Amino acid sequence: MKNNSRREFLHHCTWISIACSCAPISALGLSPEAPDWASIKAQFLVDDYPIMNLNSGSAGIMSKRTLAKYVEYLTLINSHAPYEILQTWQEQIRNNLQRLAHHIHASQGHLYLLRNSTEALNIVLWGKQWNKKDEIIHATSDYPLMINTLEQLKSAKKIKIKTIDHGQLKNISDDDIVKNYERKINKRTKLLILTYITHREGHIFPIKKICSMAKSYGVEVLVDAAHAIGHIEHNVDEIDCDYYTSSLHKWLNAPLGSGLLYVKSAKLEALQPPLSYPDHRSDQANKLEYLGTRPYQNGMALGHAIDELEKIGIENKQKRLHNLKKYWTDRIAAENSMDIITDTNRSCAIASVKISKPLSKVSQALKNDYNIHVKKSGYIGEGFLRVSPNIFTLESDLDYFVESLKTICT
Ligand SMILES: Cc1ncc(COP(=O)(O)O)c(C=O)c1O
Repeated sequence: MKNNSRREFLHHCTWISIACSCAPISALGLSPEAPDWASIKAQFLVDDYPIMNLNSGSAGIMSKRTLAKYVEYLTLINSHAPYEILQTWQEQIRNNLQRLAHHIHASQGHLYLLRNSTEALNIVLWGKQWNKKDEIIHATSDYPLMINTLEQLKSAKKIKIKTIDHGQLKNISDDDIVKNYERKINKRTKLLILTYITHREGHIFPIKKICSMAKSYGVEVLVDAAHAIGHIEHNVDEIDCDYYTSSLHKWLNAPLGSGLLYVKSAKLEALQPPLSYPDHRSDQANKLEYLGTRPYQNGMALGHAIDELEKIGIENKQKRLHNLKKYWTDRIAAENSMDIITDTNRSCAIASVKISKPLSKVSQALKNDYNIHVKKSGYIGEGFLRVSPNIFTLESDLDYFVESLKTICT
């Protein structure tokens, strides 16, 4: 199916969905409270843009409403003395962070609004006090930039990095994942790093079980939850990790350049952030807040992104994202030329597909001939396409994607 036929295809699908909408809701298996996803799509600036965005895993986009408020805040702060405006905003920004703490059930520590997960991870990794030969455990499925940090930390601090290769995450049980971490622990182990939802496969790790195991050995855990907020319901108090980092510009649809760091209260005093702070603040939560002048409008717009999430409800959103993933992966499952490498029961929005044709050619054809953007991903020697729809994606969009991919690959 070529570029110019997308409109016809979608037109056809619209008629299919209108026809379906005549059936009783109960017959379709939908709950009466299920949001109207077509009208939610209309709340995003996606219809005017010719490329279909199936790469929400890299970064989300703001809704039209959040964007309008963001522009309003940006205009205000740029038409006044910025620090005068900040004084009037500070309470609201703090309130937005408290709402976020409430949303992820993080009551045992402090939350910091940063630029992204990368920054948050680096604050913890460079802020911890290392002794020579201390050990850190992590996995090959973690985020490459974080692994770079570990390599640099290893040289600078003379510590040891132990790397786990879980193999294909689809083929390993949760219990075996826990055992892989447990086997690497010894008395020198000081930190275990866990990715909550992996960026390549979208695999959801059993982080509660791993944290509980690590705790029994007195090992601290840093959870890279870049993809978790606004994507899946979770409870940081129950997970019981020591440090937790996330990107708010991914699944929460907050402005680009919004990230989160959570540090358990008991861990604060020992953490020495790479940026300095006044000496007398060493045991105080705000010692991690000496970050200089920042895009304060992000902290304000954050509240609107939370509003939007609350209107839909995280349970509805998670279910929708999971169903969208199931929708396209089910339609590809029987294809000989394609292999879904993600466990569709231990993932939510993100899934990846291995294809028999050269990856670059397929992703270019999707972009150039069909106006679809997906991400090329993979490990060394094993490439695949990562597909990450969002709440602005409709089934008709995925029909078009699946048909286009099948045409290219067969
Ligand atoms: C698992 C994981 N960790 C960390 C990051 C870094 O996020 P950011 O670019 O927002 O710093 C990403 C980005 O995709 C990621 O997938």
